[in-house]
Amino acid sequence: MKAQWERLFVISNRLPIVGEWDGQEWRIRPGSGGLVTALTPVMKKTRGLWVGWPGPIEESAAAGLLEDFNQKQPFNVTPVYLTTDEVERYYRGFANETIWPLFHDLLGYCKFDAENWKTYVDVNRRFAEVVAEQIRPKDFLWIHDYQLMLVASHLRELNIHQPLAYFLHIPFPTLDLFRRLPWKQEIIHALMEYDLLGFQTLRDRRNFIQCVKALIPDVWVTIKRRHSLLQYGERTVKVGHFPISIDFNEFSTGARMPEVADAAWYLHENLSSRQLVLGIDRLDYTKGIPERFRAFERALEKYPDLRGNISLIQVIIPSRTHVPDYQNLKELIDRLAGRVNGRFSKHGWVPIHYMYTSLDRIQLLAHYKACEIAFITPLRDGMNLIAKEYCASTIDNNGVLILSEFAGAADQFARGAIIVNPFDLEGMADAIYGAYNMDLEERQRRMRALRAEVKRNNVYRWVEWFLRAFQEDEPRQESTPLEKEDEQSEVMDIRLWMGLTHPSQNAP
Ligand code: F6P
Repeated sequence: MKAQWERLFVISNRLPIVGEWDGQEWRIRPGSGGLVTALTPVMKKTRGLWVGWPGPIEESAAAGLLEDFNQKQPFNVTPVYLTTDEVERYYRGFANETIWPLFHDLLGYCKFDAENWKTYVDVNRRFAEVVAEQIRPKDFLWIHDYQLMLVASHLRELNIHQPLAYFLHIPFPTLDLFRRLPWKQEIIHALMEYDLLGFQTLRDRRNFIQCVKALIPDVWVTIKRRHSLLQYGERTVKVGHFPISIDFNEFSTGARMPEVADAAWYLHENLSSRQLVLGIDRLDYTKGIPERFRAFERALEKYPDLRGNISLIQVIIPSRTHVPDYQNLKELIDRLAGRVNGRFSKHGWVPIHYMYTSLDRIQLLAHYKACEIAFITPLRDGMNLIAKEYCASTIDNNGVLILSEFAGAADQFARGAIIVNPFDLEGMADAIYGAYNMDLEERQRRMRALRAEVKRNNVYRWVEWFLRAFQEDEPRQESTPLEKEDEQSEVMDIRLWMGLTHPSQNAP
């Protein structure tokens, strides 16, 4: 069956750019986080439309900057502006102080506030209104993430009956956690207004279905191999899991650029005669940064031969800086880095190099290339694309990935990575020592397997799987897409998608 879509229409809380006042003028900079990383290359290839919030920028200043962006980029963005109160209650409040911690199993951080919920409902309605103004009959409408769970139900109220797809980038919690939410009924019913619901992992998909079964007793569930079908009155909702990924080639070829090689060389030359361990995260309590610092400290305590011979480079990308829990976390991390460095540093060697900043593209790739070990240990994470970027950029295969079992990526990386429990200090310390001592042959064998996985299941295949699930009545055999030759199939995936969105370009 051929798809009918002509345009990919993405709706997410944020646009891939953030408008900000830099002290002198309004500027736009690229956004951060997994959603933007994954969707930007897809949007560039498919030339779609992206609706979202452009960040805290004045409307008058944004218009010109966004127009300029639209002219330079192959895709278009349309803004949804938020008032200061909406940012406070919908974004900082309900999205990031209720849903975010609850869905990451961190109930202790949750705040339940009825005013915040009300604003969340209102802002979701506003997104739906903007979508309704822009919609064309052959759009593939794809709504993203926890900030916009209610958009489908508002679109239905606005008499939009086009099929709607939704992807949740963060985990979906167990019934035990979800039922604490005072607005659980509203949210679960609103999610059932989508036609396809995508989750990152099988566990998330199962958690969701368990919640539906418990909270909407009339739903009839049919479990299929790749998807589940939820029958609810006249409606059938398809539910699947689609692990998100990256543009493998963008990182793999980027890591070969001479500027990257030079920057990587300088980085390691400045920290010579030691192995470098890398952590890169948005500032977030789900990322397990204090636990990581404590584990690194424990490794230095337990294995004295690591002292002077290993350094942790931790890059923290500023994020959600107005949420009090994030401010407290920053202070804790500052204190811990100071404690470990005060305790172990000696002339010519500092254990933790900690930077609170974003990296530009060259520096990001240089960090991936220069570091012998990546230490990625979230307490809970939907997927974690940093782990995938590290593998794609490790072109000489000489790198070890230590990965938390609670990152969605662990499902795919069990064979090549050293999998750790971020709550197990001793186990994490041992993993660092194991990675440090791993011989070249084993490093390369593991990294080859990891790179092959990221290369094969790249972000274009993720889109393809999602689209296929949307348009097919019966799921295809799992083995079909995986059997193709990697390089060839990646090109074919993109062509397929370009063909779907631009029927005139269909290959004969
Ligand atoms: O990937 C999860 C996510 O919350 C995205 O939805 C979001 O854009 C990103 O992380 C960064 O968070 P924020 O938009 O709050 O800065």
